[in-house]
Amino acid sequence: MGKNHIIAIDGYSSTGKSTLAKKLANELNFIYIDTGAMYRAVTYYALKNHLISDRHFDKDELIRLLDDIVIEFKKNPETGHADVYLNGKNIEKDIRQMEVSNFVSHIAEVPEVRKKLVAEQRKIAQNKSVVMDGRDIGSVVFPNADLKLFMTASPEIRAQRRFDEMKRKGMEVNFDEVFQNVKKRDKIDTEREDSPLIKTDDAIEIDNDSLNEQEVFDWVMKQVRKKNIISGQS
Ligand code: DC
Repeated sequence: MGKNHIIAIDGYSSTGKSTLAKKLANELNFIYIDTGAMYRAVTYYALKNHLISDRHFDKDELIRLLDDIVIEFKKNPETGHADVYLNGKNIEKDIRQMEVSNFVSHIAEVPEVRKKLVAEQRKIAQNKSVVMDGRDIGSVVFPNADLKLFMTASPEIRAQRRFDEMKRKGMEVNFDEVFQNVKKRDKIDTEREDSPLIKTDDAIEIDNDSLNEQEVFDWVMKQVRKKNIISGQS
């Protein structure tokens, strides 16, 4: 068996990380892991259990209950991609709602939550070739990843992209609410104490404002070949 490979994709929200990650995983026959979905799953759990709201956040109780939170990914035959499950229930659609987006950065600030999810991310990737996207993949989860990408784009373009995506899915959304949420999450994600979003020195920056989806993909595939990352080992 050849070496397993890890491609880490970090960056701000709605910069096209998951689109790129899915295309790469398909092309290379690697497993795709959306770590944002894991933080969203914990947030969904906290909301359902009334541990977080506009007025309060019962962090200690969430930490106490962390062992009860079981997150899994299972392939959806219709989309060909993995859906996220919380304690056996498919919550792929629920975690994309604005309510979850509004609280997820606060949940992602809690060191105990990060510790649990980072351990699970490392476990999922054991003995596999993976494309993993998030905020701390190249800096914390896999500092020795074979290829590290850091994606950026202006907040306006990112908010528009997320707004269009939610509309397409038939969700009730307001552009300003999405825009404010993007800016608020950037601030919390980059300024938090534990594992803030940073570009590591060895990560390659991709500005998604100036390149289209195909151009980004073609350019990244060149980097993949340069690094001798070989497909078909998932
Ligand atoms: O990629 P996303 O928008 O679904 O991520 C949701 C939130 O989860 C994001 O605002 C920050 C947090 N997150 C994180 O802190 N670390 C990760 N590896 C992935 C996501």
